[in-house]
Amino acid sequence: MIIDFRSDTVTRPTKGMLDAMIKADTGDDVFGEDPSVNALESTAASMFSMEAALFCPSGTMTNQIAVKCHTNPGDEVICDETAHVYQYEGGGIAFNAGASVKLITGDRGRISAEQVSISINKRDDPHKAYTSLVCLENTSNRGGGSCYDLEEIRKIKEICQTNNLALHLDGARLFNALVAKKETPEQYGVIFDSISVCLSKGLGCPVGSLLLGKKQFIKKARRIRKIFGGGMRQGGFLAAAGIYALKNHVSRLAEDHAHARLIAEALSKKDFVASLMPVDTNIIIFDVRKPHTAEQIVQKLKDKNILGYAITPERVRLVTHLDIRPEMAQRTIDTIQHL
Ligand SMILES: Cc1ncc(COP(=O)(O)O)c(C=O)c1O
Repeated sequence: MIIDFRSDTVTRPTKGMLDAMIKADTGDDVFGEDPSVNALESTAASMFSMEAALFCPSGTMTNQIAVKCHTNPGDEVICDETAHVYQYEGGGIAFNAGASVKLITGDRGRISAEQVSISINKRDDPHKAYTSLVCLENTSNRGGGSCYDLEEIRKIKEICQTNNLALHLDGARLFNALVAKKETPEQYGVIFDSISVCLSKGLGCPVGSLLLGKKQFIKKARRIRKIFGGGMRQGGFLAAAGIYALKNHVSRLAEDHAHARLIAEALSKKDFVASLMPVDTNIIIFDVRKPHTAEQIVQKLKDKNILGYAITPERVRLVTHLDIRPEMAQRTIDTIQHL
């Protein structure tokens, strides 16, 4: 048995999800005629109290469409230096939107209102790029699944409003944050101009992300999705998985968080662990003590059929998810204890 902690994207559809997919009613979504895609989009929009939603193939696409919609070429985007939208989307902000980036050194991927405020370029200075968008990430992937404080987000929103900036949320793992902090989708929907949420991570779908926003924004986003090559035809088979996941796979994320905490506790007692980030959700990140290397520890775990990911030469990431059953978490803990 392989226990795969490399990412929460490795999950396979459950039996219930597969049944829902097979039974899906479908049509051509580029014509707007797929009833399952339409149902997923309207379900998600009402869940977040936002006007509309757009089903896309990936979180990279929903983020990149949002950046493209909110900016003009030459504009500047503010985000944390570890943000997925900047670090792991192939330079898409420059490639797709022709925009530049102002990076902030946040606290485990979270930036503060104060930091945003001092990073906005003066509008009347012709030397400076025009700041037009702030991107937050919740939970933060490289921040070890850290969650924002909602009050801080509200303060960031105020600054955005005062300075006429759009506010986008990369909520690839937003549901993990909502479950961990006992918050609701509406609390986020009323703040952000756009939100991207992934169905293919903690929620266990094979494919798909949703972009949420106002009707006019989603109309523009739909056009950009087509240009990016993301218009899907009988997407309803995938959308049905999304509807199933929103109904059945949200509250169970608490189980993934509990597994992550237990595994982290076992790691915290090991000499080869130099430091461990606090575990707020389903991501465990630790630094290995020299002379060990991250690759070495990952290999030692692999020898025991446990897969992790060396994200830097000294840093290891493990991610819990739907396919990690309690007995797998326990076997991982036993293995770590004997490592
Ligand atoms: C925080 C964050 N945003 C966006 C994405 C992109 O999602 P996708 O892999 O569906 O393109 C990821 C993927 O891991 C992520 O961790």
